[in-house]
Amino acid sequence: VTAAAAARPVVLIACQGVDTDAWLAALGRELPEAEVRVWPEAGDLAEITLAVVWRCPAGVLGRLPNLRGIFSLGAGVEAVLADPQLPASVPLVRLVDPGLATGMNEFVTMRVLHYHRDMDGYAADQRSHTWAPRAPPLPQDRRVGILGAGALGGLCARTLAGFGFDVASWSRSPRVIDGVRNYCGRDQLSDFLRRTEILVCLLPLTADTDGIINRRTLAELPRGAFLINVARGRHVVDEDLIEALDSGRLAAATLDVFREEPLPPQHPFWSHPKITVVPHISAVTQVATASRTVATNVRLLLAGCSVPDTVDRSRGY
Ligand code: NAP
Ligand code: GLV
Repeated sequence: VTAAAAARPVVLIACQGVDTDAWLAALGRELPEAEVRVWPEAGDLAEITLAVVWRCPAGVLGRLPNLRGIFSLGAGVEAVLADPQLPASVPLVRLVDPGLATGMNEFVTMRVLHYHRDMDGYAADQRSHTWAPRAPPLPQDRRVGILGAGALGGLCARTLAGFGFDVASWSRSPRVIDGVRNYCGRDQLSDFLRRTEILVCLLPLTADTDGIINRRTLAELPRGAFLINVARGRHVVDEDLIEALDSGRLAAATLDVFREEPLPPQHPFWSHPKITVVPHISAVTQVATASRTVATNVRLLLAGCSVPDTVDRSRGY
């Protein structure tokens, strides 16, 4: 590392589909001790010590010889990990941020309440001018199951337990959340699914979780269950989901994420009567909060401290 690079950190914003002007201004404000550049106007690549990435253009990370840290602008890092040029020993930090968490908490709660209160049924009644009041089940009699009990799944679980729902989570290692029953590991997945009437997916996409919502796992849910997928499209096997909806095994699904995004215009999800499609907006990275989170993590890393939410590459999340 040259003396100049050691003296003044240089941050490169290497993102696609992101308002890079807003990020340039925000990081300039939050990290006045650093110089911030935006790809492709990166200058001398040897001067770059930190990279801020989302859908990072291919090959960029492999061309930064003095890189000390990579900061994702999203919680899910499967795309960064899939980059064959990703330097092996540079820490990768994912985004755990209050703005992102608030959005996910709102969205998941909204859709759970939507299904719990049979809003689809009332919309159908309105279309046929039918006045048919029905008592909803009590929340303690509604079993919600959250795949993933991390930053986002854990928060949603706590919120839903606060509404009085009978909430369970599923994780890799045991996770204790007040009022939430935890199941962990593949051995306990079936028990978790069999009790779950509203299934929320908040897992990271890894080799272990790819395609986890499939014909076999959907068949373990009670008949008439609901699915809310806000994690990644690849968690779901599309044809198996459609089959489960068409057979009545599943009552309805809310999908925020898809194998191909934007969802292709001809994809059957768009027009399926039991599917609600939204364009990957359940939790949106908010520049105002996330720039502060990234700045805090950059300072921890430069001070030689351990940075929370550093990705464990062997686990894949
Ligand atoms: P996180 O804090 O890392 O939590 C991940 C959870 O999944 C943990 O509880 C983990 O178990 C569990 N898990 C991972 N692999 C597992 C496996 N093989 N079996 C069982 N459980 C497993 O992640 P997060 O911040 O909550 O984010 C979760 C995901 O949400 C992201 O990766 C991203 O894909 C998605 N996301 C989507 C949006 C959107 O707008 N749609 C926005 C943000 C995030 P342990 O507790 O044992 O580690
Ligand atoms: C969005 O999908 C994220 O991973 O933050």
